[in-house]
Amino acid sequence: MEKLKVGIIGAGGISQVAHIPNFQKIEETEVACICDINKEKLDAIADKFKIPGKFTRWEDVIKEQLDIVVIASPNVFHKEQAVQSMENGKHVLCEKPLALTGKEADEIIKTAKKTGKKFMGAFPQRFTSHAYVIKKMVEKGEFGNIYYAKASYLRRRGIPGLGGWFTTKKLSGGGPLLDVGVHILDLVVYLMGCPEPETVMGTTFNKFKDSATDGGWPPSESRIGDRMGKTFDVEDLASGFVQFKNGGSLFIEASWAGNSETGLKISLFGTKSGAQYSSSDTPPLKIFSEMDGVLTDISPVLANVDSYLEEAKHFVECIRKDKEPITSPKEIITVAKIIEALYKSAETKKPVHLAS
Ligand SMILES: NC(=O)c1ccc[n+]([C@@H]2O[C@H](COP(=O)([O-])OP(=O)(O)OC[C@H]3O[C@@H](n4cnc5c(N)ncnc54)[C@H](O)[C@@H]3O)[C@@H](O)[C@H]2O)c1
Repeated sequence: MEKLKVGIIGAGGISQVAHIPNFQKIEETEVACICDINKEKLDAIADKFKIPGKFTRWEDVIKEQLDIVVIASPNVFHKEQAVQSMENGKHVLCEKPLALTGKEADEIIKTAKKTGKKFMGAFPQRFTSHAYVIKKMVEKGEFGNIYYAKASYLRRRGIPGLGGWFTTKKLSGGGPLLDVGVHILDLVVYLMGCPEPETVMGTTFNKFKDSATDGGWPPSESRIGDRMGKTFDVEDLASGFVQFKNGGSLFIEASWAGNSETGLKISLFGTKSGAQYSSSDTPPLKIFSEMDGVLTDISPVLANVDSYLEEAKHFVECIRKDKEPITSPKEIITVAKIIEALYKSAETKKPVHLAS
């Protein structure tokens, strides 16, 4: 069977750590070319990973004979690169955030439908053992009605690429809400069965602007030729509350810096059981249940998985077997709409009511 040819846009941290090695590891794929506007990094990475094709313009990559385009560039480019890649006949695995607004997400989904190409969001959280265990229980109805959820992704001092594109709004679109908050929002929306959001309230802060320190992502060895400035015009903490049409609600918080604990935590409250996953707890996953009238705590033993590799394998399987990727169009649009509304609410200091 001929290998699927992969082209990667963005030769930075996530491509070097995950996408390039993973698509080189999978037997059915080969990394045929890579693109970066930073020529020094492009040359070094193409050389290091022995990638034959090199481009400095993404518009040229998407015209190559490729099956898959992986988008791993700064956030503001994702929508256009995804749409144009599909228009040029490529399946797309797109880094998060997939879109900055509901309208952008809509355009991506419409293009995927029109072109018949697969589009998947790169959300490795969905491929973790805890997500797998919780989702299986949700599907079996073991939580009953999930009516409340909490999602928290906090860093005490973890600002990515300080002064580079991450902290520059015109390139990132936003701070930790779009960067790490989107991981847990996507996960919780998926686990809750994608309820329709009705009202959204958000707040954002930027308290570490003058005392900010770089948090170490992207890894320093991956930053070949990157030029960092001083701009930090996005939030360093965001929090929000979402009410859903079905009566349920969600509290979410995400930070790059704050005087708080560090970690990723999600909680689901269901009428039959609840679940809590916390990256800093042992055991990390707890199920709060009831057996014969006795309140019972269960701590499932979680398998060790490489969630980034599983993500890539799943996408390849979807293409080979013509299956729908795990990130559904409805979830993609819902997540984008909620994030857009959280920022709008923070800016206007008013709740945002979403039309269906
Ligand atoms: N899924 C995850 O867990 C995860 C983790 C980290 C980053 N990400 C996402 O991956 C994307 C890249 O992040 P990163 O950490 O690799 O950042 P990075 O800064 O290390 O890499 C981005 C690269 O894109 C290049 N670039 C900039 N503009 C470009 C353009 N127009 N066309 C082509 N290349 C361009 C830059 O030169 C840089 O090398 C972001 O959207 C980020 O949110 C996802």
